[in-house]
Amino acid sequence: MRLDGGAGGAGGAGGGGPVIEISGLHKSFGATPVLKGIDLTVGAGDVVCVIGPSGSGKSTLLRCVNLLEQPTAGSIKLLGVEVTDPDVDIDRVRTHVGMVFQSFNLFPHKTVMGNLTLAQRGVLGRSESEARAVALRNLEQVGLADRAGAYPAELSGGQQQRVAIARALSMDPAMMLFDEPTSALDPELVGDVLAVMRDLAESGMTMMVVTHEMAFAREVGDRVVFMDDGRVMEDGPAAQVIGSPRTERARVFLHRVLNPTAVDDSELGQTEPPQPGDPDYVPQ
Ligand SMILES: Nc1ncnc2c1ncn2[C@@H]1O[C@H](COP(=O)(O)OP(=O)(O)O)[C@@H](O)[C@H]1O
Ligand SMILES: [Mg+2]
Repeated sequence: MRLDGGAGGAGGAGGGGPVIEISGLHKSFGATPVLKGIDLTVGAGDVVCVIGPSGSGKSTLLRCVNLLEQPTAGSIKLLGVEVTDPDVDIDRVRTHVGMVFQSFNLFPHKTVMGNLTLAQRGVLGRSESEARAVALRNLEQVGLADRAGAYPAELSGGQQQRVAIARALSMDPAMMLFDEPTSALDPELVGDVLAVMRDLAESGMTMMVVTHEMAFAREVGDRVVFMDDGRVMEDGPAAQVIGSPRTERARVFLHRVLNPTAVDDSELGQTEPPQPGDPDYVPQ
C-alpha cells in the first residue's frame, strides 16, 4: 500500500521497510516540552505496546503518528512517506492510520452500521452497498454482526469499543493505533476487547498499543516500549522489558502496575515511619 498515491517518487512504501519510523521526535505545547527526542521503529506486522506513567507522553506520541498533533521537530515516516513534509496530503495519510481511543467516540444518533459506513462513504467515496459489505465483514470480525442495527447506547462499553475497532478497520488502515482502549471499561468487559485485538495482531496488523494490560503486552506484544518524561527509556522484547526491566524507573512503574493494591511505599523511599512534624505522624 502506498500513502503518497503517486507512481514512483517518495519512499519505499510497501517495499518491506518499516511501517512507522520515528526519529528525533520532539513535541512541545507552548514552552513545555512533552516529547523529548523519540526514536521508534515499528515493522510490518509488529505489535508494539507502549507503557509508562501518566503524563509521560504516550498519547501525544500516538497523536503525532496520527497527525492529530504537529511535531515540533523530528521526522515521522509512515510506509516510507515523510508525513511532516508540508507537501504531504495529511487527510489522505490519516485514512491509512486507524485510531482507537479510550472513549469510543461513536455517533450516538447513528446505528452501528451508520457509524461504520459514514467515513467509508464520505472519505473513501465508497457506495452504500460496498460500505455496508465492508462494515458487516468487520462487525463479524469483532463478533457483533448481529448488532448492526443497534444504537451505541444499547450496547455495553465493551461492545461499543469493539464497534469502534470495526469502524477503524472499515477504512482499511495500514496500521492501527490504540490509546488505552480498555481503560474506560468495567473489568468484566475488558477481555472481549483484548481478544479482538489479539485476533487482529494474529491476522498480521501492524499495531501500536498504549496499555496498562501487562498480560496482554507480554503475550501479544512483540516489543514493549517504556516511556517516562517524554523519552523512550526501554525498548525490547515484551518478556524482557516486563520481566526484567533495565532501568529503575521501569522497575518502579511495573511494580506499581503489577501490584496495584499492594500497601508498600518502599518504592517511594518512604520506609521510615512518620516522624514528628510529618502530616501523617500519630503520637504513640
Ligand atoms: N494539548 C495539550 N496542551 C498542553 N499540554 C498538553 C496537551 N496534551 C498533553 N499535554 C501535556 O503533555 C504531557 C503528556 O501528556 P500525554 O501525552 O497525554 O501523556 P500520557 O498519555 O502518557 O498520560 C502532560 O503533562 C499533559 O498535560
Ligand atoms: Mg494518555
